[in-house]
Amino acid sequence: MNPEYQVQNGGIDMEKKRVLITETINKEGIDLLEKYFDVDIKKNISKEELAEVIEGYDALIVRSNPYIDEEVLQNAGRLQIIGRAGNGIDNIKLEPATKKGIIVANTPDSNSMSACELAIGLMLSQARNIAQADIHLKNGGWSRDKFMGSELYGKTLGIIGLGRIGSLVAKRMAAFDMKIVAYDPYISDERFERFGAVKKDSLRELLQEADFITIHTPRTTETIGMIGDDEISMMKQGVRIVNAARGGIIDERALYRGLTSGKIASAGLDVHEKEPFGDNPLLTLPNVIVTPHIGATTHEAQKNVGVCIAEQVIKALNGEIVPNA
Ligand code: NAD
Ligand code: MLT
Repeated sequence: MNPEYQVQNGGIDMEKKRVLITETINKEGIDLLEKYFDVDIKKNISKEELAEVIEGYDALIVRSNPYIDEEVLQNAGRLQIIGRAGNGIDNIKLEPATKKGIIVANTPDSNSMSACELAIGLMLSQARNIAQADIHLKNGGWSRDKFMGSELYGKTLGIIGLGRIGSLVAKRMAAFDMKIVAYDPYISDERFERFGAVKKDSLRELLQEADFITIHTPRTTETIGMIGDDEISMMKQGVRIVNAARGGIIDERALYRGLTSGKIASAGLDVHEKEPFGDNPLLTLPNVIVTPHIGATTHEAQKNVGVCIAEQVIKALNGEIVPNA
């Protein structure tokens, strides 16, 4: 931190820069920011409200909401940085930000372990019907036959996207003696070898072989709808699917058809096409486990994310290089 940043003009404090935070971030991160800046927290602010107030801020910190596009940024005259407190920046339109010279920075490594562990939890929970059995027992039931599960041991896990989170999953699930296969056209052969994953040259090959499938790609024009009816038809009968990456990568209507036809035994979904979730036919299915996008909701991840994004904002407003921009 440049010590001259705040005390300029012969020791007289210049007007403090202003930071707006639109979703909860960890207290340590907020405390760090408040050392240097005026910080306002406006949770659940709508796009329209944000567009109105943004002209008064030098930095904006968001999580998954609201969607930041040219409309929001039209009055962002003094905004220098949009900090994404988390990983995916698919809720920030980069072009209008770049045109205005606004840095977009995220904290890509801060919550990977938490997201990985939730994905594994969704896999185990599906295989052993943990969520359903819990509801059953709490409603007074005691039926063990209803909850016949399957072991992970010896099964093939298909990982789509062997980046940060996909590779953490690969390493951990190898300890369950699963055979790991992966599809990721953008990485080197060495990376597949390093994480003990058999490389699949096409998505089709992975879909045909996997007993469990877990998705860990970003949401891009290429991955939206990547799993639809055609892809589901290629899968093994009774496959189980996890999506803790982004909603929309699996087409939810196709998934519903797959789950109700019996082709797909179950699905565990942390992310959804529409968030907050609302009315969704998938909720009516007993073989679907859903969580409200809590992949990064751990004490550890939120501490990492909060501190990391605060440091990025301090650097940007101090004219320093921002590492994850
Ligand atoms: P990453 O960038 O490290 O890895 C993504 C991998 O996907 C890369 O290796 C890339 O080559 C690969 N990929 C890209 N397009 C592909 C395609 N068409 N087919 C196959 N592979 C493709 O990302 P990450 O940090 O591992 O994050 C993965 C996903 O998890 C992202 O969507 C991120 O937003 C999401 N995420 C969710 C939560 C949560 O709370 N549920 C938390 C953190 C991250
Ligand atoms: C992320 O991309 O970091 C996750 O979706 C988690 C979050 O938004 O908190």
